[in-house]
This record gives sequence, C-alpha cells and structure tokens, in this order.
Amino acid sequence: MGQYRNGAGPMRVAQEAPFYRAAGDEAEVFRAAAGGGLPVLLKGPTGCGKTRFVQAMAHELGRELITIAGHEDMTSADLVGRFLLKGGETVWVDGPLTRAVRQGALCYLDEVVEARQDTIVVIHPLADHRRELALDRLGTTLPAADGFQLVISYNPGYQSVLKNIKESTRQRFVAIELGFPPAEIETEIVAREAGIDVRTAGDLVRLGNAIRNLDGAPLREVSSTRMLILAGALVAQGLGLRSAARSAIVQVLSDDPDVVHALGELADAVLPRP
Ligand SMILES: Nc1ncnc2c1ncn2[C@@H]1O[C@H](COP(=O)(O)OP(=O)(O)OP(=O)(O)O)[C@@H](O)[C@H]1O
Ligand SMILES: [Mg+2]
Repeated sequence: MGQYRNGAGPMRVAQEAPFYRAAGDEAEVFRAAAGGGLPVLLKGPTGCGKTRFVQAMAHELGRELITIAGHEDMTSADLVGRFLLKGGETVWVDGPLTRAVRQGALCYLDEVVEARQDTIVVIHPLADHRRELALDRLGTTLPAADGFQLVISYNPGYQSVLKNIKESTRQRFVAIELGFPPAEIETEIVAREAGIDVRTAGDLVRLGNAIRNLDGAPLREVSSTRMLILAGALVAQGLGLRSAARSAIVQVLSDDPDVVHALGELADAVLPRP
C-alpha cells in the first residue's frame, strides 16, 4: 500500500510506481541504456507518453528524476547555475543540470532542442564518453556521478531536425521512438487514466484512430492519447460522450470552421448515439 500512518506523526506517503503501459520494447532498451550510462533520445508526438515513460523508468531504476523544460530563451546558466547575491555575499547556486550530475540523477531535458546552440553545447561532453560538465564560472569540470543519465525528448512533427545537437553528439544517443499504442493497449490506458469503462474508452480510441487515419487533414497534431484521456475525464464527470469528444478533441484540434465541422461529423459517425 502506498500510504500508512506512522504513530502519531504526520501521514507519510510512499511513492507509488507511475503507471506506464509499454507497447513495444522501449522499457528494455531504456534499461540497457541506463545500465551502460548511455544518453537517450526520446521522440514522439505530443501526448504520446514520453514524460510518463521517463517517470516510470526513473522510479523503476530508483533514480531521482530532474526535469528541465527547454525553451528558446534558456541560457546555459539556467542549466548549470549562477552566482547570486545573498545577504551581501555572492554565492554559487547549482542549476538543475549540475544537481543531476552531482547526485547521479536521471536528467530529463524536455524539448531541449528549442534552446539555442550556445546553451546546448554544455550537454555535449555529458552525452559522450567524457561524462563531465564544464562549470566555466567556477573554473572546474564536474565528472558525472554514477547513475547520472541524460534523457532528451523532442517532437519530430514540428522539429524536423535536431539542429542544435551536433551530429557527433547525437550519434552517441540511444534513440527510442514512442508513438500512439495499438488500440487495445490505448483503450486500457484511457480507461485507467480517465476512470471510465473499457467500452467507452474503446469508443474514444476508435475516434482517435479515425482522426489519425484521415488523409490530408490540415491538422497540426492528431488526437493524442492525452486528448482521449481528457475526453474520458469529462465523461467520468457525467458529460455525454459526444459532448466530451467535441469539447476535448474536435474543438481543440482546429479553429477552422470547415475542419471542425468535418471532425464533428466524424465523431458523430464513430461514437454511439446517446
Ligand atoms: N503508455 C502509457 N501508459 C500510461 N499512460 C500513458 C501512456 N501514454 C500516454 N499516457 C497518458 O497520457 C498522458 C500524456 O502523456 P505524456 O504527458 O507522457 O505525453 P508526452 O509525450 O510527454 O507529451 P508532450 O510532448 O506534450 O510533453 C499521461 O499523463 C498519461 O496519462
Ligand atoms: Mg512531456
């Protein structure tokens, strides 16, 4: 059990394993990479389970997980650390990457490719045989503690190239592609995460796949597992299935009235009548 009372003290909560349902050999590949201290590159569309997968693997491996969300204004100081003024004194404060390197944590750089090249260079020596981090401001180089592992993710849909990662660095990564799982597995995920019955979850997954299989649809992204779960969560609150699909899927995927109309018709065709 995850929770227990410890005498008269406060309630302590033991961390439960995050639920992740694998569809392929991603967990085996990740374990092998972790065993060899090799960096991992996760690719896949938004909402397909990348973050959840990393959370589950960190838990299984017993590593602390330090997540850093990449963005284009990110500087290397945001990753590595900086001097800050504290009570008249200048003190060095580790950034999240430095903490991970010191502690031997699993460091997950989400959408790291958004960052500029001069920011990204700091991870290069961590991703190859050197396994070290240059702390230029401190004039030192920090070797990565055992257990340190770098995981980066990106969405090939809107980032066609990892332009900020040198090819010579990229080739040191183990790449794992995550996609949307087969219908049976996705149904199980949606039912469990949204707290709805398997039949309703199956209906949502059928709609998701119908949208994914549309030819030439002008959609930036297709219906993700996350979206189907969101629709399911509305159903769990008592909303009708068709309304839930309209609000959590159809209206979210497009603002174009023609596209919204077409997707709405598709949803009505796929989903059972109320
Ligand atoms: N294989 C899976 N097992 C369990 N849950 C899953 C799985 N795939 C997706 N999910 C569910 O879908 C949700 C969205 O997944 P997640 O946040 O991991 O996506 P992501 O790929 O990291 O998306 P983004 O690129 O937008 O960050 C999760 O919170 C989880 O509920
Ligand atoms: Mg994510």
